[in-house]
Amino acid sequence: MAVNRRSFLAGGALLAAAGATGQAGAAADKAATPANPHAGPDGRAYTVGEPCLQAPAETSMGVCWAVSHLTNGWVEYGEKPDLSDARISICEGAPGITGFDEYSVRVRLTGLKPATRYHYRTVSQQIFYKDNYNRGYGEKIVGSIHSFETLGAAQRAHFCVINDTHAMWRPFKLVIDKVKELAPAAVVWNGDASNRTEDPETGVEIFLRPKDSEDFATDIPYLWVDGNHDFRGIWNRYLDRLVMTRLPTERAARDWALTRNFAVRLGEIAMIGLDTGEDKPDRHPQFHGLVVAEEYRRAQTAWLADALERPDIKAAPFAVAFLHIPIFDSDPTSHPGDVTDNGGGKYKSDFAYWQKQCNELWAPLLERHGVQLVIAAHQHCYRYDAPTADRPWAQIVGGGPDLGMVGRGEKRRKDESRFPTVIEGKVEGGKLVVTAHDVFNKRVAGRFEYNPRRV
Ligand SMILES: [Fe+2]
Ligand SMILES: [Fe+2]
Repeated sequence: MAVNRRSFLAGGALLAAAGATGQAGAAADKAATPANPHAGPDGRAYTVGEPCLQAPAETSMGVCWAVSHLTNGWVEYGEKPDLSDARISICEGAPGITGFDEYSVRVRLTGLKPATRYHYRTVSQQIFYKDNYNRGYGEKIVGSIHSFETLGAAQRAHFCVINDTHAMWRPFKLVIDKVKELAPAAVVWNGDASNRTEDPETGVEIFLRPKDSEDFATDIPYLWVDGNHDFRGIWNRYLDRLVMTRLPTERAARDWALTRNFAVRLGEIAMIGLDTGEDKPDRHPQFHGLVVAEEYRRAQTAWLADALERPDIKAAPFAVAFLHIPIFDSDPTSHPGDVTDNGGGKYKSDFAYWQKQCNELWAPLLERHGVQLVIAAHQHCYRYDAPTADRPWAQIVGGGPDLGMVGRGEKRRKDESRFPTVIEGKVEGGKLVVTAHDVFNKRVAGRFEYNPRRV
């Protein structure tokens, strides 16, 4: 897609040959001009993806979907299943103009009622575009009607967490099928959806059109948390085009750059989203000065302190923090996570098996506010760290994409500790009940209960 558009918009030949406007063009340029100036350059079929519900909140919802060509899009939505009361929200763009993108359409529904079901459908209008004065309508595709519920204190307290799918479609389908069966009110996608994303097609496939599971987020909204791999590759620098940021009005002006953090109520649960960033020190030679995670983590600390004091968050009987890299490890001397060159060979690795800086910055706040549980990812092996006298919060580490086998080539071997998980949280009988589902072996890997917090 990128190649086609580049040649269409920026290629000197075609621009000169926009000579439908009467300007001179060389014979070679004219030969490259499509017979119909609005027909587009490639002849590919116009297709659109299923809608993905993103960045859900009490009074807003993001809807993002993939498109195969330049598209102007909108969402029709209302409380009636037949959309007879529908309003329209147009795709986000710069002030005064709509978004107009060749890879995705992003629409934000605002002014919604908390804990309320809405029905919606997407409309995609292809626009043929040669230049501002040579454009026209193409095909229009109206999507099927789906529905979602907004978040809020009156919503049912039921979430799921998926993580570390790493663009591997078999484990991805296993976790998505389990999520559909459990039908939570919201899902946390706890990072490492990517490996490294160097081109837009890869990003679209990972976030909007996953193989065999394209309808994964049509009716259940996803709260996104970055993993370290989601910072890798040139195109993950433009992730906002595929994964919508949080609504700016959710945060203070001081925190304008913290577009991924969330603090939302889902029934009796306060859900806190934190970003642990990349997995090595910023000064690591592999990063070439392109990572500033340490300052990013410090900036989130002020946001977290304020979020935990918010009356609606403070009033929640249960509080759970979601982040990608664990912030505790029982063997911290093996993996300090903040050295280069393995600490001169002293340690097993120099990537952060757990995140020491985040522990130092955020754990005191989590403890002060009685946060009962941290749900992390990253280690590709399910684990539970029960609370202790020194660490009153529990930590669950979700499993990774391995399906009972690890290693490559001749070193490939069985490892029953490796399986993908869906971690389910639900308030039942006055307690937060958390179940770790092993979706490969079809069993429950762990089940834990938490009392309401006392703060
Ligand atoms: Fe991972
Ligand atoms: Fe990771």
